[in-house]
Amino acid sequence: MRKKIALIGGGQIGQNLAMLAAMKELGDIVVLDIPDYVNPVKGKALDLMEMAPHGNYDANITGTSDYKDIEGADVVIVTAGKPRVAGMTREDLLATNLQIITDAANGIKKYAPKAFCIIVTNPLDAMVYAFYKLTGFPRHQVVGMAGTLDTARWRAFISMELGVSVTDVAGTVLGGHGPDMVPLPRLTTVGGVPLPEIATKEQIDKLVLRTREAGTEIVKLFGKGSAFFSPAWSAIIMAESYLHDKRRVLACAALCEGEYGIKGLFLGVPALISAKGLEKIFEIKLNDEEKALLQKTVEGVKKTVEETKL
Ligand code: NAI
Ligand code: 2OP
Repeated sequence: MRKKIALIGGGQIGQNLAMLAAMKELGDIVVLDIPDYVNPVKGKALDLMEMAPHGNYDANITGTSDYKDIEGADVVIVTAGKPRVAGMTREDLLATNLQIITDAANGIKKYAPKAFCIIVTNPLDAMVYAFYKLTGFPRHQVVGMAGTLDTARWRAFISMELGVSVTDVAGTVLGGHGPDMVPLPRLTTVGGVPLPEIATKEQIDKLVLRTREAGTEIVKLFGKGSAFFSPAWSAIIMAESYLHDKRRVLACAALCEGEYGIKGLFLGVPALISAKGLEKIFEIKLNDEEKALLQKTVEGVKKTVEETKL
């Protein structure tokens, strides 16, 4: 029997998730949205069914507004919520999206209590925390997608700046999904060569800043709405690692229970995603400067999480 992927939210990211999940044949796909938007979502699902002969995939893709239809899902990816428009921070979305995450948590807890859950809705670090608290799911079953995207942006900007293949750029970004996130130049390599040996300090500072502001750069260009292609791919590789037990080590918002000296907060950290879900968080030996930067992002995440009052 095929696996089942439930996508809560069938907007910009949700529709791209559906296409990628289909093209990768991850399983049958159910896209759930609010009753007012159920017809467009059913239309998107049908459109993807009609793309199958060219996409060469076998998957049953449906749209719904009824949580019953996600019953037994193996993976749930939540993008339901409002995106940013120009001038808004991710935190401006908190009150509205907390209500939406509460609805999603209730529905998923009832109909897909065993699913591996990937939360994407912003403000990410607070929404994944809220989802975890509201469902009471174990830590290995709930992760947030942000670090995978932030790391992709870091790698893309390095490749663009240095004129090297993005495939050869390896590195990670720690911390919250906001302007205090912590790209780690010291531990980034290009084909095995440490980044600080092939880029100037000015170049590195510029790359760090661009990565931290990458979401805002896109929001400014769009005017309305935020990035969707790269966020969708970022969440799909997390789902794929779980479903295919690929054991990828990806920057995920994971519940820290003492790692990096942090307890009870979801924070972007390198995590092993396997068939067990979040199998392990890897702790990097940070230097004093990196520790201070991490502490700053932790304070920001703590503040937003407190606003959820959960
Ligand atoms: P979108 O507005 O295109 O889609 C959101 C969808 O959620 C809409 O179709 C809407 O009808 C639906 N929705 C609203 N309330 C719902 C509910 N109660 N139940 C089910 N569906 C509901 O937004 P987009 O661009 O897809 O972004 C989704 C979220 O992802 C936003 O909060 C955005 O800020 C966030 N985001 C997070 C990123 C990350 O790295 N974690 C990156 C980019 C965006
Ligand atoms: C992004 O980073 C806005 O969180 C969204 O693109």
